[in-house]
Amino acid sequence: MSLRPRRSVLYMPGSNARVLEKAKTLAADAIIMDLEDAVAPDAKDQARDLVCAALKTGGYGTREIIIRINALSTPWGERDLSAAIAAGPDAILVPKVDEASEIDTLSQIMTRQGAAPGMKLWVMMETPLAILNAGAIAAAAQHSGSRLSCFIMGTNDLIKDTRAIMTPDRLAALHWLSTCQTAARAYGIDIIDGVYNDFKDEDGFRAQCEQGRTLGMDGKTLIHPGQIASCNEVFSPAAEEVDLARKIIKAFDDPANAGQGVLTVDGRMVELLHADMARRTVAIADAIAALQS
Ligand code: COA
Ligand code: MG
Repeated sequence: MSLRPRRSVLYMPGSNARVLEKAKTLAADAIIMDLEDAVAPDAKDQARDLVCAALKTGGYGTREIIIRINALSTPWGERDLSAAIAAGPDAILVPKVDEASEIDTLSQIMTRQGAAPGMKLWVMMETPLAILNAGAIAAAAQHSGSRLSCFIMGTNDLIKDTRAIMTPDRLAALHWLSTCQTAARAYGIDIIDGVYNDFKDEDGFRAQCEQGRTLGMDGKTLIHPGQIASCNEVFSPAAEEVDLARKIIKAFDDPANAGQGVLTVDGRMVELLHADMARRTVAIADAIAALQS
């Protein structure tokens, strides 16, 4: 499991030069320059050129840069993939993946076309078949030569394809989210929650961030800069959580407790598994602090 903070992952249309520039000033942990759904068919070629030029110019600091390409089955997919590989983002995000064999194929193409060894493959989990195949798709992260390192939930497409209804409690989506989250954890990849379309509804957005955190997501995909601050807050360990984690680690590291499997910290039972959780909490808090400094 990676310790790279991926709390806030902001989409932007690759055809919009102004937002590509604006991203350099925003506190998002990662940005997705989109060539797919946010770009009209007539603007696909222009968007590809703009995004590649933006990467060449740089200036994005520690933010992770991801290019979302069109599916290989579309008229633009192959050109997008080749251009994205040459532009050298941290990851290439591929939409509408249905099955595990696509992970092998995409990883092989990236390697064959000279992608740097560290360039990752992220995939959208956004079709009914992807949900049914989530375990096998995540397992492909462990195939030899695989570049898969992250799932992004595509809840808008899932709503469209299943004809379910998106409600504030996301009742219909819970199964998709938890299935993919469990698959991601089983095979050690990250997973980022879907978007909240009503970007002016701050309370509703925050509640959905908290639900995503409760479900074990690493972060949330965003569509507007106004969503970044509260998302970063919700997906960062709270100060009290980090304090308690440090106490738990200290208790287990105390020579007086050597060989103990269970201890009492702040009146609560803690086991060795809680010490493991505490170490991750402290590590991710340190990684967030390092990003901010
Ligand atoms: N990334 C970076 N900057 C963004 C942004 C984004 N996704 N969305 C808006 N901004 C910038 C605007 O450029 C503007 O900055 P400026 O005043 O310096 O020009 C500022 O934030 C405020 O924007 P605002 O006027 O409130 O939004 P808008 O009405 O121009 O655009 C959307 C609204 C929804 C069209 C726009 O936010 C957007 O395109 N979001 C991303 C959509 C997307 O990528 N979807 C695909 C995945 S679901
Ligand atoms: Mg989609």
